[in-house]
Amino acid sequence: VGPESPLIGGIAEAFWEADLKVFGPSRAAARIEGSKVFAKELMRHAGVPTADFEAFDREAAALAYLRTLREYPTVVKADGLAGGKGVTVARSREAAEAAVRSAFAGKFGAAGERIVIEECLEGREASVFVITDGQEMLPFLPAQDYKRINDGGEGPNTGGMGAYSPLMWMDTGTYAAILEEIIRPTIHQLALIGAPYSGLLYAGVMVTDEGPKALEFNCRFGDPETQVIL
Ligand code: AMP
Ligand code: GLY
Repeated sequence: VGPESPLIGGIAEAFWEADLKVFGPSRAAARIEGSKVFAKELMRHAGVPTADFEAFDREAAALAYLRTLREYPTVVKADGLAGGKGVTVARSREAAEAAVRSAFAGKFGAAGERIVIEECLEGREASVFVITDGQEMLPFLPAQDYKRINDGGEGPNTGGMGAYSPLMWMDTGTYAAILEEIIRPTIHQLALIGAPYSGLLYAGVMVTDEGPKALEFNCRFGDPETQVIL
């Protein structure tokens, strides 16, 4: 199954019920991409390194929290699927407040009824894919996509304008830490809560000075990273 929406909607179950084979996670496991609040709380329980965060389902509480932050930028994320447009890296409190207000005003529909506000991470981004049956994992080489729309890394973020692999800047220790400290505990935690993950699991990570930290998980292959990996 290529895109995330049918997986999050439960297409794997529809195949199983018809006694057909399907490569992709259950609806419950696909929540790792379908809900950022779910993903962040799962990572917190599993001890996965990720940006510090708070989740909100009310605008007033989110705005009050923004007033307590001493440093900007900060990152505001819609909980649900927003076609790659649900994340705002806000350079100022005003920009963060605008992102919070537009989410609660319905810019992302139901996907924005809850939001995550998290610490802004600095470093180099990588996409790491594994195939898993819910217990073991088979990793691919890491890839990086070019997020910005214009040449020279300028302009707004996109889903990815192009990609390359392997990553000559990533040492084997960092790659091992992504597999063992981010991906393996996430797979384990999903199994523990009764939502074992089978299919392709995609970790978006930021390699920071303190080591790799998870930005997000996707329940599918990445585009355009998959082209360079395959
Ligand atoms: P996500 O959908 O969570 O991967 O966010 C989309 C993009 O926003 C990521 O690929 C990053 O470029 C950026 N981003 C997300 N979270 C953070 C963060 N905590 N710090 C810095 N950049 C982020
Ligand atoms: N290239 C980012 C993604 O597939 O989500």
